[in-house]
Amino acid sequence: MSRTATQRHYLMVRPTYFDVEYSINPWMDPKKPTDTELAIAQWEWLRDLYVDLGHRVELLEPLPGLPDMVFAANGATVVDGQVLVARFHHVQRAGESAAYLKWFRDNGYRYVRQAQWVNEGEGDYLVAGNTILAGTGFRTNPEAHNESREFFGRPVTRLTLIDPRYYHLDTALAVLDDDTVMYYPGAFSEESRLLLKELYPDAISASESDAAVFGLNAVSDGKHVVLPQAATELTAQLREHGFEPIGADLSELLKAGGSVKCCTLELRAG
Ligand code: ARG
Repeated sequence: MSRTATQRHYLMVRPTYFDVEYSINPWMDPKKPTDTELAIAQWEWLRDLYVDLGHRVELLEPLPGLPDMVFAANGATVVDGQVLVARFHHVQRAGESAAYLKWFRDNGYRYVRQAQWVNEGEGDYLVAGNTILAGTGFRTNPEAHNESREFFGRPVTRLTLIDPRYYHLDTALAVLDDDTVMYYPGAFSEESRLLLKELYPDAISASESDAAVFGLNAVSDGKHVVLPQAATELTAQLREHGFEPIGADLSELLKAGGSVKCCTLELRAG
């Protein structure tokens, strides 16, 4: 099966102030040293790759004191040009919302609102065709799902996460095209696992070891799938399914519990 890429529009934030200063997920250990220079080099590689693939990349200025700001996926959800800015679960990241509100307003987006309920943007909201797959369990409040359904006017499918290592939906599931996903079943409640099986009988299933190297924290343009290079089985599975996997090394960012998808917020035009 041959796959077709479509041009995407992304928002990214340079990890200028990246560090692991606190721990809000099991991957973060503030005692482990981080190398900000290396984080920047790895991130620049990703940004350049998107540009080389023909995508448009916008940048939002990072702010000192917000070391997780590189994880742009968490800042908002943008569908049909409508922007629902995140409300962060942890106080350590709360300051990021204002920067996103300002950026979207300054850049001509007319429907921009900060969410009432806690939701961490595309960390927990993944757009698959007409539907929004919505994670909950650790960060995004289940009440937020109704708010998003009303705001975007799209059906929202709830998926419950149960393993703290996979605290955001985008750490356990990736949308490859309108009706293809890959996911790690062990990250989901029994009910959500059954639902995923029903919705996506032909999904690519990730092994525990590929999930543990953040193999599901991937970005697809319908053809190219950028994912952590350590996810070797997923890389082979993607190839078998006609996708073109591209391995990324974002080892520094993984120390904060993030990788490819976390650094990438998709701007979907209206
Ligand atoms: N340290 C960040 C946090 O725990 C990592 C966020 C990763 N982002 C993502 N979209 N999964 O909030």
